Amino acid sequence: MSVISKYNRISHVYDIMELPMETMMFSNWREEVLSGLSGRVLEVGIGTGKNIPHYPDNCEVVGIDISDKMLSHAKEKASSRNNISLFQMDAENLGFKDDSFDYVITTFVLCSIPQPIPALKEMKRVCKPDGMVINLEHMKSENRAIALAEDVLNPLTVAITDVNINRETVENVKKAGLNIIDVRNMALKDVFRLIRSKP
Ligand SMILES: C[S@@+](CC[C@H](N)C(=O)[O-])C[C@H]1O[C@@H](n2cnc3c(N)ncnc32)[C@H](O)[C@@H]1O
Repeated sequence: MSVISKYNRISHVYDIMELPMETMMFSNWREEVLSGLSGRVLEVGIGTGKNIPHYPDNCEVVGIDISDKMLSHAKEKASSRNNISLFQMDAENLGFKDDSFDYVITTFVLCSIPQPIPALKEMKRVCKPDGMVINLEHMKSENRAIALAEDVLNPLTVAITDVNINRETVENVKKAGLNIIDVRNMALKDVFRLIRSKP
């Protein structure tokens, strides 16, 4: 099943499915990462728009997603805001000029994008030279036991949910030509990490 069909199919239950993780961890992280931003922000894979309430009013936010049905939920969340624009678009082929955003954001997206490195290269291209790419993602741990479990379980998570749990996302950010500023472990040792980088 393609990514678009998968997310179209689960779009109406996505927020409910994610509620436990959202309440325990994600919502606080979203607030911490996004509440201090300003300027032009691109969010890649905005999904149902869970980050929308956390963007300050002084951001001009452009959100893209490949799934029209996920976007329709994001549109509802954006309806009370006048600083959010949403478009259906593929992360691997962004329809924006070079150097057009102060920040490029992903949250829990690089595990499901079919080709993360081309998508990260696109993020680098559209980010201003003095801007920042911020990825809040889960990935393969550097702990050998956790990494082994992720490798063993990955075929199952891909088959059932199309989500890869063993991607080497910090390496992928580097392979895309982005320059890492810092990487912060967020939870489950280093499975959830916040990566900040510059073009
Ligand atoms: C796990 S959801 C995360 C949604 C949201 N970022 C959040 O924090 O809740 C992953 C999202 O990435 C989107 N996505 C996957 N591949 C994509 C691509 N190539 N281009 C744009 N969006 C994509 C999916 O449609 C889905 O909405």
